[in-house]
Amino acid sequence: MKVMEKIKAKARAALKRIVLPEGDEPRTVEAARIVAEEGLAEPVLLTPESIASAENKPRLEAYAAALYELRKAKGLTEEAAAKLAADPMYYGMMMVKEGDADGLVSGAVHSTGDMLRPALQIIKTAPGMKLVSAAFLQESPFAAFGENGLLVLADCVVNPCPNAEELANIAVATANTARALCGFEEPRVAMLSFSSKGSADHALVEKVREATSIAHALAPDLLLDGELQLDAALVPEVAAIKAKGSPVAGRANVLVFPDLQSGNIGYKIAERLGGAAGFAVLQGLAAPCNDLSRGCSVDDIVNTIAATAVQAAGR
Ligand code: ACO
Repeated sequence: MKVMEKIKAKARAALKRIVLPEGDEPRTVEAARIVAEEGLAEPVLLTPESIASAENKPRLEAYAAALYELRKAKGLTEEAAAKLAADPMYYGMMMVKEGDADGLVSGAVHSTGDMLRPALQIIKTAPGMKLVSAAFLQESPFAAFGENGLLVLADCVVNPCPNAEELANIAVATANTARALCGFEEPRVAMLSFSSKGSADHALVEKVREATSIAHALAPDLLLDGELQLDAALVPEVAAIKAKGSPVAGRANVLVFPDLQSGNIGYKIAERLGGAAGFAVLQGLAAPCNDLSRGCSVDDIVNTIAATAVQAAGR
């Protein structure tokens, strides 16, 4: 991905400390070596053995105590907190929470839910953010779309059924990620649907219309329009017929899907049938934590660590 060179340059300048809880997984170990060698971040590999070592005992006990304080109101006992803190995923989250690391990358072994849940419970949302979601940076072989083929898609990973207000929040957060991480000078956000500008009527379409008007109120200066079908969002000739006069239609570079079914299926269709490639970053967390696909390559891990470092630098 061309955008990765810019992200890596920013990561080198920031040199953030990124914790990798899957520290005995071979691709992760190799990615950590490359990241350190190329000066993209300071990687910290965690293993159950390194956490449980005598030298590390005071820190483990401190994290267990902090975790208990954080979650006791939710029913976590001291005994359960001690057990969880010894798990590299939770230990890594506590490192980020306590400021001993700037960000976390995991997911070569763990499922998305297994990484997301502790991130949501421990790191929580950033001040002023109501919702965590994911932006998918996807480069298409068709340079006519987005910014030279680069599009930012959301939410393809986290929220199964966002309501109108949540969808509006996802749209604004994704535009911010497109600006901060991908360097888009003018994010142009399409609120996707199976209808374009009133061509169909249904409760599902109404939700997208409502989200569009909430997003306008949240970010009045943002170029955002809906509801739009995917072809009306991307293809100028179709936009001229289906959404004449729209400031976004035909030239969208940020695509917001109405729910997780469409978002997850959508990015995978572009990947498998369209030859697009990319990766997701979480947005809205108080500190950056990012998930990998279990089928990820060493390069994917290196790229995600670099993007996490850039997110940490932008906090
Ligand atoms: N933003 C902020 N906080 C959230 C969010 C959110 N989107 N969702 C849940 N939370 C918080 C809750 O408020 C709760 O906090 P609390 O315990 O402090 O009160 C905590 O997270 C846990 O919430 P639950 O509702 O109990 O968690 P749940 O079991 O529903 O899990 C999860 C949340 C993991 C995000 C779930 O929605 C999920 O599984 N999403 C889909 C993940 C997935 O499988 N994606 C597709 C595959 S990934 C791919 O293809 C790349």
